[in-house]
Amino acid sequence: MSGAGDVGADAARVLARCDEVAALSSRPDGIERVHLTPEHAAVNRLVAGWMAEAGLRTWQDAAGNLCGRLEGPVPGAPALLLGSHLDTVPDAGRYDGVLGVLLAVAAVQRLRETGAALPFALEVVAFTDEEGTRFGTALLGSRALAGTWDPAWWSLTDADGTTLREAASAFGLDPGAVGDAARSPGELVGYLEAHIEQGPLLEDADRALGVVTSIAGARRFSCTVTGEARHAGGTPYDRRRDALCAAAEVVLLVERTARARGVIATVGRLEVSPGAVNVVPGRVELSVDLRAEHDAHRDAVWEELRAGAERLCAARGCGFAAHEHHSADGVACAPALRDAVRRGIAATGDTDPPELFSKAGHDAMALATLTDVAMLFVRCAGGISHAPEESVRADDVAAALDALTAAVLAVAADRATHPAPVR
Ligand code: GLV
Ligand code: MN
Ligand code: MN
Repeated sequence: MSGAGDVGADAARVLARCDEVAALSSRPDGIERVHLTPEHAAVNRLVAGWMAEAGLRTWQDAAGNLCGRLEGPVPGAPALLLGSHLDTVPDAGRYDGVLGVLLAVAAVQRLRETGAALPFALEVVAFTDEEGTRFGTALLGSRALAGTWDPAWWSLTDADGTTLREAASAFGLDPGAVGDAARSPGELVGYLEAHIEQGPLLEDADRALGVVTSIAGARRFSCTVTGEARHAGGTPYDRRRDALCAAAEVVLLVERTARARGVIATVGRLEVSPGAVNVVPGRVELSVDLRAEHDAHRDAVWEELRAGAERLCAARGCGFAAHEHHSADGVACAPALRDAVRRGIAATGDTDPPELFSKAGHDAMALATLTDVAMLFVRCAGGISHAPEESVRADDVAAALDALTAAVLAVAADRATHPAPVR
């Protein structure tokens, strides 16, 4: 980009900042940064400093999202939002979400330095709680901004029994004011998110960047298998109602069914009670994460899974119950913004970038109820994510920075020829 500094140097700074953010962790042996914790406050402070350096006016919104704004030629004009999230899963990598936020800050800084005349404001939003690690329900920050906050969420509890309401107050937020975080469609031009792919397709295709076509809809359940805790020595097999044996069958049913029906399902958490070597397990809690390109297909597979799990458990004298704690419908990226991302990548020399369907969830899903969304994917090594081994190439990050910056210019060019879309 003419007028802006060396993109390689800016990308190196983005990567160095990802390292600095990674140091803000609640655990000494890895990365964990979750909603409404001291690490959340610290990362917002750190990134706010970088946003201010880039020329953005910053504030933390009523939901705990960090926002930064660069006005366009007309103060108060609608904004193109760029962003991703700063929270993590347990024992996370350093790029999931964080890279997208820091690329957005760097892109805005480059656009400002070149004096690019944009017909809209630019905002970077660093969302909190995309992952749902602490309270189980994901996308809390982006749903607050989208105006789809559900007051029932205030009663969600974390592993220590602290409610979301208590945690928000302790963090310094006013639960009664969460509606202030909501934006209206008229304030926005759209939302662009850069993110690591979290899968191996770009690497397998030997490509740095890709255009996201749609994002999988996800549902998450907390399931309980109830049997009977009995003496591990004295209880004959024909009198056992072993909840763990039943749960093991459920885990395998989930994988078998998902593979056969072309959806993605994972049991990632299993908790056995009472969890003693000499007691037949009386109760098992297990999680099910279910994703598919089409919501109706995902929902039909869930009904099949639930009925199958009930049957398997009943055959062992156990009960099966499921509680849904997260649901996000699949989202299609908006054709015009998606094309702007394609043109952004084309500006880096890849004139026919690959198109990918995202199997991972993103803040863009929540924002799609509010405004047009599109996403740019960046290759990650081995397709590995949600693990400390997450890694990206410096030259890919430089290409992503160029592409994101060029995508913003493409949106501006579209806006000049076709004024504000009506939603
Ligand atoms: C978010 O990272 C997800 O689980 O898809
Ligand atoms: Mn993630
Ligand atoms: Mn993410």
